[in-house]
Amino acid sequence: MKVLGILGSPRIGGNSDMLLNQALAGAREMGARVEKIILNRKKISGCLDCTKCNETGICVIRDDMLEIHKKILKADAVIHSVPLYFWAMTSQMKAYLDRWCAFFDGNWKWHRAYAPMMKGKRIGLITVCGDPNPHTADPIVHSFRETCMFSGLKLFPAVQVSAGGKGEIDKNEKAKKEAYELGRKIATP
Ligand SMILES: Cc1cc2nc3c(=O)[nH]c(=O)nc-3n(C[C@H](O)[C@H](O)[C@H](O)COP(=O)(O)O)c2cc1C
Repeated sequence: MKVLGILGSPRIGGNSDMLLNQALAGAREMGARVEKIILNRKKISGCLDCTKCNETGICVIRDDMLEIHKKILKADAVIHSVPLYFWAMTSQMKAYLDRWCAFFDGNWKWHRAYAPMMKGKRIGLITVCGDPNPHTADPIVHSFRETCMFSGLKLFPAVQVSAGGKGEIDKNEKAKKEAYELGRKIATP
């Protein structure tokens, strides 16, 4: 089992990062091989909607997303961890998600080259927001849930927590355990 972790926060050592580390530790405990990608350290431009990928399955933008596409295809599960910025996911995570376009054909079905690898892939999501109500980050969950529903990905229940200061989540044992359990569950065959 291969589990890919995708960090959507630019704050290394911040709350989303700590929770993603917990989830990946949980997956590792189950015997998974894990890898973490920090989107802010990658060059990922926005989708151009040029539709070239509908035929080729390959994005025309020659940046770091091409390598990430390959890693997503090979992974059994992809866990995303992202803070809420102005009631939405961060720009780093949105640029990444929009570039999933390359996995689809012109009818928004999995591209024939990728369908066997993408159907039923396991998706995890962790959201963090400064607001005391963790559901303030529901717009992020909505975006991932709809994406998974229309394409037949298997979204695991999201871990949603509140934290503001950098690393504040370290004191929240319940949140850390939830993230760890997400990692364990997603890596359970
Ligand atoms: C540009 C920006 C916008 C933010 N917008 C929101 C928001 O709309 N709602 C909210 O509850 N928190 C908001 N926050 C707070 C972050 O979600 C919060 O500090 C979170 O813990 C950051 O996670 P991180 O440590 O993983 O980067 C915002 C923070 C920044 C920097």
